[in-house]
Amino acid sequence: MKVHTAILLLAAVIFVECGHTFMGTSVLRPQVYHKEVRFSSRFFHKRVEYLNYTLPAYGGYPGAGGSIQGILAFDMTHSGASANVTRGGIGYNFVDLRMKSDRNKELHYDVYIYA
Ligand SMILES: *[C@@H]1O[C@H](CO)[C@@H](O)[C@H](O)[C@H]1NC(C)=O
Ligand SMILES: *[C@@H]1O[C@H](CO)[C@@H](O)[C@H](O)[C@H]1NC(C)=O
Repeated sequence: MKVHTAILLLAAVIFVECGHTFMGTSVLRPQVYHKEVRFSSRFFHKRVEYLNYTLPAYGGYPGAGGSIQGILAFDMTHSGASANVTRGGIGYNFVDLRMKSDRNKELHYDVYIYA
């Protein structure tokens, strides 16, 4: 278990370094949401886009009525992009994820949410 945690932490550090953001845990959690976010580059500008997601409050969906346990955001451009949670997140039933591209680069994130 300790070794496992160390590997996860190491992975998190590496992910942040190349623009990925990894929060909470996806281990043994159902994936409740997946979206590929893609926006073309803006000349000489950094592109900022939000992905706002709310868990369904009820119904037969996995994670319905619960809270978010894990968020994985993979930077598919491998550039200086970043993704940050601005509201909600782990332990909440919603999350606002702010994604920022590198200058002159397209924005391309693959986002997975676990509950
Ligand atoms: C946003 O996330 C990046 C890593 O993806 C981090 O380096 C940066 O400090 C964060 N910014 C804020 C405002 O939290
Ligand atoms: C998403 O959340 C941000 C604040 O975190 C807000 O500025 C933005 O308007 C929201 N977008 C939508 C489509 O609700």
